[in-house]
Amino acid sequence: VSAERGGYDHFMMKEIHEQPKAIRDTLTGRLDETAGQVKLPELKLSTQEINEIDRIHIVACGTSWHAGLVGKSMLEKMTRIPVEVDIASEYRYRDVLHTSNTLVIVISQSGETADTLAALRDCKKKGLRVLAITNVVGSSVAREADDVLITWAGPEIAVASTKAYTTQLIALCLLSIYFAQVKGLMSSDDAHDWVTQLANLPQLAEQVLDTAPQLEKFAADWVHAEDTFFIGRGLDFSVALEGSLKLKEISYIHAEAYAAGELKHGTLALITDGVPVIAIATQPHLYEKTLSNIKEVKARGAFVLGITWVGNQDLAHSVDEVIYLPQQCAELSPVLTVIPLQLLAYYAAVARGNDVDKPRNLAKSVTVE
Ligand code: G6P
Repeated sequence: VSAERGGYDHFMMKEIHEQPKAIRDTLTGRLDETAGQVKLPELKLSTQEINEIDRIHIVACGTSWHAGLVGKSMLEKMTRIPVEVDIASEYRYRDVLHTSNTLVIVISQSGETADTLAALRDCKKKGLRVLAITNVVGSSVAREADDVLITWAGPEIAVASTKAYTTQLIALCLLSIYFAQVKGLMSSDDAHDWVTQLANLPQLAEQVLDTAPQLEKFAADWVHAEDTFFIGRGLDFSVALEGSLKLKEISYIHAEAYAAGELKHGTLALITDGVPVIAIATQPHLYEKTLSNIKEVKARGAFVLGITWVGNQDLAHSVDEVIYLPQQCAELSPVLTVIPLQLLAYYAAVARGNDVDKPRNLAKSVTVE
């Protein structure tokens, strides 16, 4: 079994470390670095069909839903098409407003999640076009969707999803760029920039993995915590949700993710001496605002771990520990930011003696409703 785990103690750690490769594999064949273009030959959607899309609904569960939240931001920014993101078990039972040109994107690592599959089938019955982002070739979702984008993360064994999430973000980014190119909304300079940024990501992810010892130490100091808060704004809030889920799933520490600007409307009451707060501040246009939220929790005694990029050295004055990401990468920052959060959850779970790969009450793929 140790050989299957590639020398790591757990599949989760192996999969966290496989992310640079998983990202690279998901990009392979889809980037034309010379032309500065994204190619998605597997899509059957025609130029005309893409131009006609007037709404996008993203539907998923768990970590895949969190990827969808980031996808909304990428798609809206690049394609100017309004995007809604729903949890599949909510989407199925609500009175969804769609048009005949609504594109539904379902995201599912396994391609077998009951609620996601049921939502897909409902949409097909309504005559809506469905595009699936999945990690399993030949899964139910892959077979039943009209279009499929495979994330080439390779088999994910640990219940807590890691490399599937990062590759879902890559797939969503590729799709956003591709749609923007087809719609004539992306300048050739911007497209070149995106392609270069994507191509550099595996190597940056590799560098972020080097923060592991820092997170192991932080987790050890913090093993007896009862509650933890993850705060951020914009994309940092989306990734905070994923960090909080990871921690709950495997360490069983109660965690809550909050939009940093919303703290003052209630959650701040829970911040007392020593409460751990993970504060994510990677978005340049939100940095100052987030910093002032960090100072608010610090003033109430929180023990703060900050995550920012290496250019923001000043964050160190306002927090107890800082994890620096090697480079600022705008819309793609969640791909890097999530890595320390995965490591933190992992080390906290190990320190508490939990079964990291098979947490209590949870299943890798939920095929019942
Ligand atoms: C389960 C897993 C999660 C996963 C969710 C959705 O709850 O434990 O890790 O995010 O299902 O799975 P899917 O395969 O549809 O992405």
